[in-house]
Amino acid sequence: MVATLYRPTWAEIDLAAIGYNIKQIKKTLSTGTEIMAVVKANGYGHGSVEIARKALASGAKALAVALLEEALVLRRAGITAPILVLGWVDPKDSPVAASHHITLTFFQEEWLEEVGKISLTDDLKVHMKWDTGMGRIGIRTEQDLSHVLTALKQIPHVKLTGVFTHFASADEENLTYYHGQTERFSRLLDIFQKEWQGAESIHIHTGNSAAAIRFPEQMQHYIRFGIAMYGQYPSPWVKSQKIISLKPAFSLYSQLTHVKRVSKGAKIGYGSTYTFNEEGWVGTVPIGYGDGWSRELQDFHVLVDGKKCPIIGRICMDQMMIRLDQSYPIGTKVTLIGKDQQEEIEVDDIADYLGTIPYEVTCMLNERIPRKYI
Ligand SMILES: Cc1ncc(COP(=O)(O)O)c(C=O)c1O
Repeated sequence: MVATLYRPTWAEIDLAAIGYNIKQIKKTLSTGTEIMAVVKANGYGHGSVEIARKALASGAKALAVALLEEALVLRRAGITAPILVLGWVDPKDSPVAASHHITLTFFQEEWLEEVGKISLTDDLKVHMKWDTGMGRIGIRTEQDLSHVLTALKQIPHVKLTGVFTHFASADEENLTYYHGQTERFSRLLDIFQKEWQGAESIHIHTGNSAAAIRFPEQMQHYIRFGIAMYGQYPSPWVKSQKIISLKPAFSLYSQLTHVKRVSKGAKIGYGSTYTFNEEGWVGTVPIGYGDGWSRELQDFHVLVDGKKCPIIGRICMDQMMIRLDQSYPIGTKVTLIGKDQQEEIEVDDIADYLGTIPYEVTCMLNERIPRKYI
């Protein structure tokens, strides 16, 4: 991918906001609870290397990613902090993880057996995942846990350094399911502590942003801090509770590349879906679905000169048209996410319009949009 340097569309990432958000959560956590900054999916679209560096400089002690590839990107950038890969990694690739001191997640006996057959020059650190109700990956039963622990004892070059689970609904108002998960986790932890020698030195972590914000004192050795580090709330409900103040790190800007006066009856874009009922002004903005700016955003708005301007006609691959209230010079700034005078478009506004979550919005804006760090 060629870095885009010449096209006037860019995302601005406010690194100070990342530091601020880490500081906000840190002051609520008990001593002994550290922050593992979740920088998977290119740091939720913010840039994994830059976010990882800022998070570590702001007090995070470890990093989490989803893929081994993502961990290697961080290592190649010279980041030496502990990195946990949260997803499943093929056992045949465990030597790559071991040699780069990258911790893998495991939850299957057969996975251990496969790793056991490989001669590793470095020990492989692993965290064991327990599925307490997410239904995605992890050991589900007490019996399976006992089997896995027995298997693990046979493989001296695989070093268990952590156990964890993931909550499915810590961001919801109703916490019944969340409490059910914490109870299942405690039951598995009891067995683990009885059956594993040295259990007291194993790192335990359960909380994502929502759990950490709501139950900071219940968090164990780490929180896995993702969406809130980027300044977004895990759900509208958590946001409405005003438990924590967060600053969004992501803004998105472009510029007008063409402005024209059109007469009544003028049609705009593919399929001519928009018709002017009276004379008006059209601005062209160089961003489209090829950048991850979804076609579904038709009829949403952007900001120009502090005013909301509707997106008219179909969004093209690289450009879209907006309705302006007057003529503006070429090069006028267009705010797609962020503040312009008294107006603001939040990531949440776009998520609401698209019927999705803020996580998806910053992830969907792809690498064609350069990230500028401020
Ligand atoms: C296993 C795991 N832990 C932690 C997180 C971070 O969650 P959040 O972004 O809600 O803080 C994620 C994100 O999806 C995850 O998959």
